[in-house]
Amino acid sequence: MRIQPARRLRGRLRLPGDKSISHRAAIIAALANGRTHIENFSTSEDCAATLSCLAQLGVSIERDGASLLIEGVGLKGLRAPSAPLDCGNSGTTMRLLAGVLAAQGFAAVLTGDESLRSRPMRRIIEPLELMGARISSEGGRAPLKLKGTRPLKALSYRMKVASAQVKSCILLAGVNAAGRTEVIEEAVSTRDHTERLLRWFGVPVETKIEAGANSQAVFIENVSRLRARDLKIPGDISSAAFLMVAAAALRGSDLEINSLGLNPTRTEIIKTLQELGADVRVREDGERCNEPIGDVHVHGLESLKALRGAAGANILRGGAVARLIDELPALAVLGTQVWGGLEIRDAQELRVKETDRIRAMVENLRAMGAEVKEYEDGLAVTGQTALRGARLDSYGDHRIAMAFTVAALLAEGESEIIGAESARVSFPEFYELLESVIER
Ligand code: S3P
Repeated sequence: MRIQPARRLRGRLRLPGDKSISHRAAIIAALANGRTHIENFSTSEDCAATLSCLAQLGVSIERDGASLLIEGVGLKGLRAPSAPLDCGNSGTTMRLLAGVLAAQGFAAVLTGDESLRSRPMRRIIEPLELMGARISSEGGRAPLKLKGTRPLKALSYRMKVASAQVKSCILLAGVNAAGRTEVIEEAVSTRDHTERLLRWFGVPVETKIEAGANSQAVFIENVSRLRARDLKIPGDISSAAFLMVAAAALRGSDLEINSLGLNPTRTEIIKTLQELGADVRVREDGERCNEPIGDVHVHGLESLKALRGAAGANILRGGAVARLIDELPALAVLGTQVWGGLEIRDAQELRVKETDRIRAMVENLRAMGAEVKEYEDGLAVTGQTALRGARLDSYGDHRIAMAFTVAALLAEGESEIIGAESARVSFPEFYELLESVIER
């Protein structure tokens, strides 16, 4: 796809439902008793993969665009699938469903595309085996063959990587375990949508901050049933991040995004943009289905020189990086426009995402003329760079495709994005919505 530079972004948008929340909503609704109506369900290919796996497990789902009706089958109502379950490109589908399937009275196989089959799965295999699950894998990678053990044993587990997928996998297994399952997160508390949704469906999930220990524990205990309850999913803040970065970097932009999810475990992107000197304002609008929502307004600055970080803002590391994990490609692009540039560290997880995102960012930033240092756990870009249009490779990764589309808007001259269609994996409407707010 060819991308021309943009002058600015102007307009007002509403985005499709959050991908992380949509996966969880579909899975939890499938396990509930009764019918759940979900509005503004994510239009992503990743969430479609979750729905098709659930359908193969005997769950009846009616879909009309972003509106879904799910007939819950109850905690013991899933049926053995007659073929492997294809999770496509979606790590969340595979890791969350593994937690559910580990506790069924049947065997199932979880597989996915080449990218997903190369990603690390020991992080879920290990805790699930401690709960009594029987799983075989290809050296810690998919396909995963799960035998199903009922009931699982409850587990107290201290997380080794900061991953909401791992935490959610254990909690979903904990729904079908005898006793009290506990997941302890050190230093970083990752996105908590599973906890909030389980509560929405009537399960008392408890979260305790361990005083002085810099850690947080989540508990789930002897769940007997989930009660179906309708839901409306807030707009996806990780999708919005690409548009927010473009608006922040393009002089004279004025972009408003309404009904966006503002869960505090996801809003680090807003705080980071503000600390880097961007004019981002938030209007909170209460909670919808246990998730905070509101509107975000981004004004492009009058002069690019003003994108100047507050003291310490030019380095992203530690817990903030885990909370920004999906927004780092867009932030690396913004870093090229910030005084003093941007360094991203403690981000080794980016090497095992849909592609090695550190490598992909370094290659593409260099192709556009940016000065970049690559580290095992991150990168550093020099700021205030005049980007040049270039041939850019998405490496089949949706977030790399969208981040470098934004970079192409900021560049001088035309760019070409190879594999731009991969944006469908999380945000199929990206190019159409972007075009609707671009002024050239
Ligand atoms: C997600 C968690 C994150 C994130 C992914 C979605 C989730 O992955 O990168 O896009 O919905 O739980 P990790 O848990 O591997 O960090």
